[in-house]
Amino acid sequence: GHSAALIPAAGSGTRLGRGPKAFVEVAGQSLLARSVQALAPHVDEVVVALPPGTELPPGLPARAIVGGETRQESVRRLLQATRAERVLVHDAARPFLPEQVVHALLEALVDTGAATVALPVADTLVRAGTGIPGLDSGCWGELVPREDLWAVQTPQGFARSVLLAAHDRARAEGYAATDDAGLVARQGGRVRLVPGDARLFKVTAPGDLALAEALATAWDR
Ligand code: CTP
Ligand code: MG
Repeated sequence: GHSAALIPAAGSGTRLGRGPKAFVEVAGQSLLARSVQALAPHVDEVVVALPPGTELPPGLPARAIVGGETRQESVRRLLQATRAERVLVHDAARPFLPEQVVHALLEALVDTGAATVALPVADTLVRAGTGIPGLDSGCWGELVPREDLWAVQTPQGFARSVLLAAHDRARAEGYAATDDAGLVARQGGRVRLVPGDARLFKVTAPGDLALAEALATAWDR
């Protein structure tokens, strides 16, 4: 059936400090352009949520709507702007999206109607010592076993009806989540985990831009 890529790009990029983040360029191409171009070949349409008062740069194979106050609200508006049966939701702030990851996600989505890309955690994890007598938040509290722990990325894929129902209910109940798979899972939906890629990191803080510039040299070759 019909499929759409939905790209929340309406954030203000406060932590990066360079204005609306989607328009920030890495090696001459905006984060938005990179995300749109990575998804366009795999879907029937691309819809982007932009900050109020901004416009889609010319030449991108997408159409734009105005985003909301929160990421969740931007995605809800994106869902209302398409009739596609399947949707892939992807942060504009994750500009390096390998093609194989998109294929794996589309495949995983068939079973459950909900799947997300995620990375098995590689580092040792520790909870800081708040609440432990004699320790504070700057101290090693207790080890958190990392087996079975995944760091969630985007893209995330859904049957549109599944995600729309999750958003409607979250809105009615006043519940907020940082991502869409989290909304679906919280309401009892099964979400498949698809191995992601370190290159899918989210450009969030100024240091991430240096990393992105370095990666772009190899990526754009
Ligand atoms: N986003 C959105 N609408 C919002 C807030 C965020 O579409 N109201 C999008 C961002 O554009 C980004 C993604 O959601 O592609 C992830 O958000 P984040 O990394 O937090 O981006 P910003 O909100 O722009 O950054 P910050 O939180 O530092 O202001
Ligand atoms: Mg934000």
